[in-house]
Parts: sequence; structure tokens; C-alpha cells
Amino acid sequence: MKSLLFTVPVLLLCFGIVRCQKKNILFFASDDMRPELGVYLGSDFPSPIHPEVHTPNLDALAAKSLLLKRSYVQQAVCSPSRTSLLTGRRPDTTHVYDLIHYFRNVGGNYTTIPGFFKINGYRTVGMGKIFHPGTASDYDDPISWTDPYYHAPDAKFKFMQQSWRAVSKDEYTIRPLLDMQIKEQAKKILQEVAPAAKSGQQHFFVAVGFHKPHLPFIFPEEFLSLYPRENIRLPDNQYAPVGMPDVAWIDYITEELGAFTDIQHVYPSGAINSTLPNEVVIGLRRAYYCAVSYTDSLIGEVMEELESLELAGNTIVSFWGDHGWQLGEHGEWCKHTNFEDATHAPMMVSVPGLTDKGVVTERLTEFVDLFPTLVEAAGFDPLPLCPADSTGTALCTEGTSMVPLMKDPTREWKTGAFSQYPRNNYTVMGYTLRTDKYRYTEWPEFTMAPDYKPNWNKLYGVELYDHSVDPEENYNRYKDPQYQTIVTELSSQLRKGWRYSQPPSAMHSP
Ligand SMILES: *[C@@H]1O[C@H](CO)[C@@H](O)[C@H](O)[C@H]1NC(C)=O
Ligand SMILES: *[C@@H]1O[C@H](CO)[C@@H](O)[C@H](O)[C@H]1NC(C)=O
Ligand SMILES: *[C@@H]1O[C@H](CO)[C@@H](O)[C@H](O)[C@H]1NC(C)=O
Repeated sequence: MKSLLFTVPVLLLCFGIVRCQKKNILFFASDDMRPELGVYLGSDFPSPIHPEVHTPNLDALAAKSLLLKRSYVQQAVCSPSRTSLLTGRRPDTTHVYDLIHYFRNVGGNYTTIPGFFKINGYRTVGMGKIFHPGTASDYDDPISWTDPYYHAPDAKFKFMQQSWRAVSKDEYTIRPLLDMQIKEQAKKILQEVAPAAKSGQQHFFVAVGFHKPHLPFIFPEEFLSLYPRENIRLPDNQYAPVGMPDVAWIDYITEELGAFTDIQHVYPSGAINSTLPNEVVIGLRRAYYCAVSYTDSLIGEVMEELESLELAGNTIVSFWGDHGWQLGEHGEWCKHTNFEDATHAPMMVSVPGLTDKGVVTERLTEFVDLFPTLVEAAGFDPLPLCPADSTGTALCTEGTSMVPLMKDPTREWKTGAFSQYPRNNYTVMGYTLRTDKYRYTEWPEFTMAPDYKPNWNKLYGVELYDHSVDPEENYNRYKDPQYQTIVTELSSQLRKGWRYSQPPSAMHSP
């Protein structure tokens, strides 16, 4: 009933005005899913060794979406990346660099994507993993939702000791997996919001956050048959880039993978130029692909529900994975780095009437771009660009609406995508810039509160990878005499920051 208070004036204002034809939003997220999906294969995915990946549902969604082939997260770990995407601001503005702090405490009282739609009269319903759970979001940022937040009640398989496991049909029939429960909830909520959405009484923003393919890789056993073991290969670069500074490396054992007993049993060191035994690498890669296909199947079921409720014609559907994932490339595992494999992530946005035939863009885009894109695509006025210090500004963005790319995917666009990752207890910050041809990274000294600023005069490492000849980032060319002009140019672009790499039409001064 409460919602009527919002919708009645909206309806009155909107009669007969085309601009008021708002769209619903179905907002999918997946945890740790790198862009190794059918539709991404090719030169845009830097790791050429993989089996054929089975993601028919995401491929079908991509076929009626703007597919962002080169979209980059702002920090390659869960809460910082999600907080950045959901607020449309970068880590140096949210001040969230870890899995503990909450942006409203350390950054500002920012309007989020669901919060925006709630303020505008939508019913906003969230489930599963959208914000990082727990203190990092004060338990799913309650202010952003009109309805109580849903987590699957039965988490039997969530805290497993093993890094992966195929669950038998008998088992998951009795105790459905976490994401199966979320998928059921998503269908139920869509049924619930459908009548009001179809009559125009109240639009919806429904967010469905799947936990897979995050570790432990748990999936229904039938997915194993999609990936026969003999089809799985080792990465061809199980070594750190030649000339990589130590600060670029993360000890994946201490950071994440060492939590599992099957991994502990092989005594991995997590050190530079070590990796896991071949059998373990193959097993993990296979299980990861199974978990990706399993997640894809759940998205397919929710999409089917959307279609059968006849909501698809007026509902924007977005999908993203919160960052990339290293599956043994460079001998590295998980995320927590500034490499291409960690910062490059999947994103697609389907807008009925705009992207029906499928639009693919190779332009550089960033995760902060999703907020302004959804706002514009849903039929609202564009979000203002954030001022230099936006800690006191509730509603603004540090991204760029991607709607123009839906109309012209090859138009001139950003000249760089920016990511960052802290090291050494937040006293060093790796800033990385992806341009069309290069990845360039500097690791300056960094001060946390109250400055949140790098000291470019003190560097702990510099990296330059030339993607035109080295898409796997195996050679750091920073010291190569042939690249000195490029290094100077890219260093200047990186230090000036993201505002100077905006599309020409969106050029704004700080
Ligand atoms: C944050 O902003 C919301 C409005 O979006 C407001 O209701 C709330 O009181 C604010 N919180 C603080 C701590 O200022
Ligand atoms: C890691 O291995 C590569 C390839 O063998 C080598 O060039 C590089 O120097 C090694 N890095 C370190 C830090 O040992
Ligand atoms: C990290 O820095 C904080 C704040 O300066 C300090 O309290 C903490 O002891 C440091 N932790 C480590 C492991 O050095």
C-alpha cells in the first residue's frame, strides 16, 4: 500500500507523455565470473587456452544486448568492485578498498542504483549477493530496498572444506544449492511484481545475485559431462611476467585458496613463479567451468520466467560478474591483482527497443558506467557528473552512460579504463590504465584517511604490457628502450586520472 503514495502522483504527471514510459529492470550479478563466455571468445579474451565454454543463456541474452567486450572493474575484489558499481563512483571516492568498510561510513551517503529507483517510486527487491554481505554493506544496504532483503535460508553447501565438489541429484533435490534457492525466489518475486508492472501501477527493480562461480566451486554433477577432463588444458603461461615487480603479485594461498583442505594437502607456497600441481590446476579449471555453466542455467530459468510473464518487452536486463579471475595464468589464482585477467569482467545490458538485434562494442568501458546507463535507458534524466569532491553529493556519477554506444558501438569513446588495487597494508596503491593497445600500471605510495591520495614521487613498481603483441601480459616492457615514448604518454594519462580519458562528448572538468 505504501507504494501507492509514490505511484499515484507519477501516474498523474505521466499521462500521455512519452518520456514517462519507464522501464522495469532485472539486474543479475554473478560472483567471480570472468568473461570466458561463448560470446567473449576471440581476441578480446587474453587467455587462449580453454575448452568450449557452454553458456547458452548468457549468449542468448548477449544476442539482444549491448555486449561490452572490454569492460573493466574499478578494483578486482568483491566489495570494492560492487560498491563502486552500485554507487557509480570509484574506490578513491567510496573509500572502500576492503571487505569490511561500508561506504556510508567511510565515503558518503551516496544514492545507489536500487536506491535511485526506490526514490523514483519503483519497487526494489534484492536477493542473494548484490552488495557484499555483512558489515561491508551494513547488511545489504537496507535503505536501498522497498522490500526485506532475501538470503537463501539453507546454506548447507556454502562453507565447504573442499575447493570444489559436484553435488549429486539426490543431494540437491533434498537440499537445493544456495543459488537454486535464489533462482526460485527470483521467479516468485517476478510473479509478485508482474501485475503492478504490467498495469503501469508500479515498476520494479529486481536484483538477483548468484554466488557462483565463487569458490568453493559447487555445482550439480550433470555439468561435469559438458567438460570432459581430457578437454581441459593447463594455462600456457604458468609463470609471472618477465620483469614483473614483486608488488604486482598476490599470495593467492594466504589471500583465498589456502582455506581449502584439498589445496592445503599439496603444500602450495603462493610465491611468485610457483603454482599448484598440474592435476589440481586441471581439476580447478574444470570445476570453475562447470560452476559457470551452472550459473548460466539459473539465469536462463529466470529469463524464461520473465518471458512467460510477458514482462520482457518492457524490462531492461543487465548482467555483470564482479571482476575477473585468474585460473592459473601467470601461476596466479583468484583476483586481487591489476592484471587483465582480474580486471576484465563480463557485462551486458539488454534494452528493449534499443538493443534487440544485439550490439557489440569493443570500446573501453568501466563498471561505474552501469549506473548512468540504467538511469538513462529506463527513461530518466541523465545523472550529473560528480564534482572533484563528491563526498557531500548524494546523487552523481563518475561513469558515463553507455546508451550512445547502443546506437553507435564504434563511436569515439573513452581512451582509457582505470582500475586500482592496494598493497602492503594500504600503504601502496597500484593504479592501472587499460588503453586500446596497452596496460600500464604504477604502484605509488598511498595515504589512507583523510587524504586517500597517491604520492607519485615514490613508486614501488611500474608495468607496461603491449596487448598488440602480448595479450597474455607475459612481458613487462617498462624498461624496454623502444617503449619509452609510450611510457611517458601513458604515465601522464594515468596520473591525470579518469576525467581526462572520457569520451569527447562527455568531457567534463573536475
Ligand atoms: C542518507 O540519505 C538518506 C536519503 O537518501 C536519508 O534518508 C538518510 O537519513 C541519510 N543518512 C544520513 C546518515 O545522513
Ligand atoms: C618468473 O619466471 C619468468 C619466466 O621464467 C622469469 O622471466 C621471471 O624473471 C621470474 N620472476 C621471478 C620474480 O622470479
Ligand atoms: C596496518 O595498518 C594499520 C593502520 O596503520 C595498523 O593499525 C595495522 O597494525 C597494520 N597491520 C599490519 C599487519 O601491519
